[in-house]
Amino acid sequence: ENTMTTFPKGFLWGGATAANQLEGGFDQAGKGLSVADAMPGGKQRMSVLASNDFNWEIDDKKFIYPNHRGIEHYERFEEDIKLFAEMGFKCYRFSIAWTRIFPRGDEKTPNEAGLAFYEKIIDTCLEYGIEPVITISHYEMPLVLAKEYGGWKNRQLIAFYENYASVVLNRFYKKVKYCMTFNEINSAFHFPALSQGMVKSSGAGDFKNIAQAWHNQFVASAKAVKIGHELNPELKIGCMIIYATTYSIDSDPVNQAATMVQNQEFNYYCADVQVRGQYPAYTERMLRNHGTSFDELDITPNDLDLLNTYPVDYVGFSYYMSSAVNVTTEQPDEIAGNLLGGVRNPFLKASEWGWQIDPEGLRIALNELYNRYQKPVFVVENGLGAKDEVVGSMIQDDYRINYLREHIEAMAEAIQDGVDLMGYTPWGCIDLVSASTGEMSKRYGFIYVDLDDDGNGTLDRTPKKSFYWYKKVIESNGDIL
Ligand code: BG6
Repeated sequence: ENTMTTFPKGFLWGGATAANQLEGGFDQAGKGLSVADAMPGGKQRMSVLASNDFNWEIDDKKFIYPNHRGIEHYERFEEDIKLFAEMGFKCYRFSIAWTRIFPRGDEKTPNEAGLAFYEKIIDTCLEYGIEPVITISHYEMPLVLAKEYGGWKNRQLIAFYENYASVVLNRFYKKVKYCMTFNEINSAFHFPALSQGMVKSSGAGDFKNIAQAWHNQFVASAKAVKIGHELNPELKIGCMIIYATTYSIDSDPVNQAATMVQNQEFNYYCADVQVRGQYPAYTERMLRNHGTSFDELDITPNDLDLLNTYPVDYVGFSYYMSSAVNVTTEQPDEIAGNLLGGVRNPFLKASEWGWQIDPEGLRIALNELYNRYQKPVFVVENGLGAKDEVVGSMIQDDYRINYLREHIEAMAEAIQDGVDLMGYTPWGCIDLVSASTGEMSKRYGFIYVDLDDDGNGTLDRTPKKSFYWYKKVIESNGDIL
């Protein structure tokens, strides 16, 4: 089928990263420690994260911490952004490390060196005509707020975040048009440590705390929208959710109903509040399913008013894989998957890390989200984590090209379905440290970074085959795939 002129003029082609996964410089220029800095690298990270059973102690003798060095983007951002510009990026999604601005999180006055660093990144982007797209908080809240304040379940964090967002927005609102308040806010359903700074000892095992933490984040997010819109009504501030299209394993209505519930609880709950400005009808039942209730939460009328008055402007989401639900078989075949898992779908192939590849599911996701909310949608993460082998002078990553091509085709279908899609920023446009495993060998980039899981390598940057492919895609506004 002909997808000519499918993508609208001004479509935001680009790439996405997160500060803690590429910057390094974890203790430079007054930066404080973040929860990401306390995550050991290697396969153990996944099980540590899933158990929530750890206490944020950094132990250099026992573990390695690849995030501390990242890919040294802190020193080499100019070179990296230049490469993004060579691909023709229209936008670049990156996050601000909260701890560069507020090292502890509870200070009143920001660290100027941190702000100056991001100003340089933004200015470099603008020099190349690249639109900065900023995630205000991406899995890297200050460690002090997790350890001393018990994470997001503590209401005091609303004011800390408000102050942080206010400083960032006041500084950059004249240069930046797109922001997101919290990365993958709904991931706390399974991994409260990453986005809510909560572990077992601070109550992560109790869903009441997760729900309270979400509420506090919703209010904080609404305050950021308020601040942003007061500075510039044109500023677009989005939510950001992890979305996995979720199928029933068969047509048994029992599985269908369970799928509906999983969709509500995992995919939609947070976005429902952030986009529609009110708690959805299923809230009470969901909370009861998990042993708590709305009455048990600390929610003020003023909070509800804020949520209602300051919903987000667009729906940013990550999409890597789909999931399936089977509650009628005793031992369904579980798959690994990203922060989510599910059961194996016999129609799909999986990545080397077990994530089930499903481009058609992206068309469905885009339709579901757009028709649920009627707000523009933005695919702010997507991609294939794979091992790359250097053969000759270039990495021939046709597997990555194929994955991306199929997902771009799915986006083209969704646009023809009537979906208002703002842009596409594939994840880890330059190789960086994996969030779930801390590995370097799980690569997503168009640009290869010479660094292995043990920290060996020159850190040289080399374009992969996909680099030249994506450049053509952007040049042709998605016509040449
Ligand atoms: C998303 C996160 O969950 O997926 C990113 O927002 C993360 O931070 C990305 O890196 C890919 O996951 P992983 O575990 O392969 O790095």
